[in-house]
Amino acid sequence: MQIPNHLAIIMDGNGRWAERRHLPRILGHRKGVEVVQSVVDECLVLGIRCLTLYAFSSENWGRPQDEVEALMSLLGSFLKKELRQLQKRGIRLMAIGELERLPDPISDVLREIMEETAGNDRMVLNLALSYGSRNELTRAVQQIGREVAAGKLQAADISEEMIANRLDTASLPDPDLLIRTSGEMRISNFMLWQAAYSELYFTDTLWPDFSREQLHLALQEYSLRQRRFGLVGAQLQKSSVQTTEENH
Ligand code: IPE
Ligand code: IPE
Ligand code: MG
Repeated sequence: MQIPNHLAIIMDGNGRWAERRHLPRILGHRKGVEVVQSVVDECLVLGIRCLTLYAFSSENWGRPQDEVEALMSLLGSFLKKELRQLQKRGIRLMAIGELERLPDPISDVLREIMEETAGNDRMVLNLALSYGSRNELTRAVQQIGREVAAGKLQAADISEEMIANRLDTASLPDPDLLIRTSGEMRISNFMLWQAAYSELYFTDTLWPDFSREQLHLALQEYSLRQRRFGLVGAQLQKSSVQTTEENH
């Protein structure tokens, strides 16, 4: 089975999972957190080097205030509990998004965990929090604009690499596989730049029902995909033979 270097997941469907059971939506989110823990563990077993989880979007701030507050409190308690687990497993925590919009106690604990786990190198767990790809791109463009205005950069020299280096994901590889749960066939403002050549996998399963088996199904399908990056199949055969040889 091919293992993506960077797996990204749009964890959707918590609210519907709860509503179908006549439970408050927050119980769906709580179940969703348990699934996060089991998926992180499975990714470690599988040797995935980077796992990005879309946990809260820029647009999610517009949800009813009680849901936003409940999500923030869930995030805070998840982070507080997580530090020991991350250290034990050798996981480095990173985060992308407008982190300064998060409530202070949460951004403080987030910063602390990122610092304390900075030396861990088994896997990166990257949380997309208060994240929106258009917002991220806008901030990158503002940064480039400042550099041009200061005379550090010529407009004609702006390259794709320079843009990528000014995104929140600058230190991370692009996602190889992007999974979205809950049956919605959309990206919802997630990694519009970085997912240019990601393989997309959609499942009807709601996030609280997502399991190790479901993850394996997604990886099996990913293994069957031929990533051509705009080339033709024959051009790739040589490099795929090389890759297989390298793996043995
Ligand atoms: C995903 O579940 C979690 C967040 C967006 C925070 P939803 O809360 O979007 O669940 P549905 O889509 O309403 O079922
Ligand atoms: C996307 O889910 C964001 C996260 C999973 C954090 P949404 O539920 O917010 O997306 P839409 O509204 O269905 O597009
Ligand atoms: Mg949703």
